[in-house]
Amino acid sequence: MKTVALDGFGGPEVLRIAETEKPRPGTGAVLIQVAAAGINRADIHQRQGNYPPPPGASEILGLEVAGTIVERGPEADPRWKIGDAVCALVPGGGYAEYCVAHGGCCLPIPAVFAKNPATAMTNAASLPEAALTVWANLFDPRRLFEGDHFLIQGGTSGVGTMAIQAALAFGAHVASTAGSEDKCRFLRELGCERALNYREEDWVAGTREWASAPPDAGVDVILDMIGGDYFPKHIDLLRRDGRLIHIAFGGGAEVTLDLRKLIGKRLVVTGSTLRSRPVAEKIKLRDGVEEHLGPLLESGRIQPIVDRVYPLEEVAEAHRRMESSGHIGKIVLRIGEPRTE
Ligand SMILES: NC(=O)c1ccc[n+]([C@@H]2O[C@H](COP(=O)([O-])OP(=O)(O)OC[C@H]3O[C@@H](n4cnc5c(N)ncnc54)[C@H](OP(=O)(O)O)[C@@H]3O)[C@@H](O)[C@H]2O)c1
Repeated sequence: MKTVALDGFGGPEVLRIAETEKPRPGTGAVLIQVAAAGINRADIHQRQGNYPPPPGASEILGLEVAGTIVERGPEADPRWKIGDAVCALVPGGGYAEYCVAHGGCCLPIPAVFAKNPATAMTNAASLPEAALTVWANLFDPRRLFEGDHFLIQGGTSGVGTMAIQAALAFGAHVASTAGSEDKCRFLRELGCERALNYREEDWVAGTREWASAPPDAGVDVILDMIGGDYFPKHIDLLRRDGRLIHIAFGGGAEVTLDLRKLIGKRLVVTGSTLRSRPVAEKIKLRDGVEEHLGPLLESGRIQPIVDRVYPLEEVAEAHRRMESSGHIGKIVLRIGEPRTE
């Protein structure tokens, strides 16, 4: 099968199209003929040699796919039949014509997507990683509630665009940061009450002003992918019982916490990662996404935000686009001859 191989670790130039053996689905798994694969920031880190796949996972890049089930492994969930169109969260192997996924990590393609066959698979491939990350960090366990003031750093990222839409659907007030005026305009159109261009303005002051309801001014929840020197600013921005949730630390992993502030405001500082979780946990998150975000996708309340679609052969260009941070939403690879498009 056709796949993407790495000529060592490095820049996008190490990515090349290669031929390799088609994988076989093991116990509980299905084989998907891939029509589209989502690109994630984690793929860039893996390509650079900074994010090895967890034990047992494919060495091939790619954490989410959409396509058609073509083979069932032993004891695979009887819900899935050969010919079913699904999208799936995978621990690796997505940039390929065929990919193995655990049956418990597959989701049906939303019926509303299937109405437009030209985009059904590319839209579906943009969902699993962002949807499960948002569900895991904001809703399971529940950390974001109706009426909360919620700040999202990097709101135009794949994860950010999903987090904003889900938070709005659950009745939160949302503010978000981004690195350009165009991105801020997009954030306002998406429903953010406040969009802060962190390159041009004091986002701390802007957020404080936005969430300045006395007597307990501040935000209730922050979703952060920066860390570093943002950390003390976040601690100051949170109101009593505030929750600071980390999903990455692009600005630095080591931080200093003033415990007086943590205790005084009863703050919760937490975070999580998705890829290395046991399958049982991913299945629980998949179930939560399907039950609670599924209807919002079907109704159009949450929409896939796809920046650009590249053919597999242009994977290096797709990575360059992500590294430029010029994108809004998800970047997706189109692979092979999709059956349902
Ligand atoms: N823990 C988990 O389970 C998990 C799962 C998925 C993803 N993640 C992490 O979540 C993040 C988003 O992932 P993704 O794949 O959706 O990434 P992405 O689409 O590449 O988005 C990352 C965005 O962050 C923004 N950014 C960079 N520096 C910033 C700053 N100083 N302040 C505010 N925004 C900044 C950039 O946009 P600007 O132009 O606005 O700077 C960039 O577009 C990544 O860090 C990824 O590693 C974690």
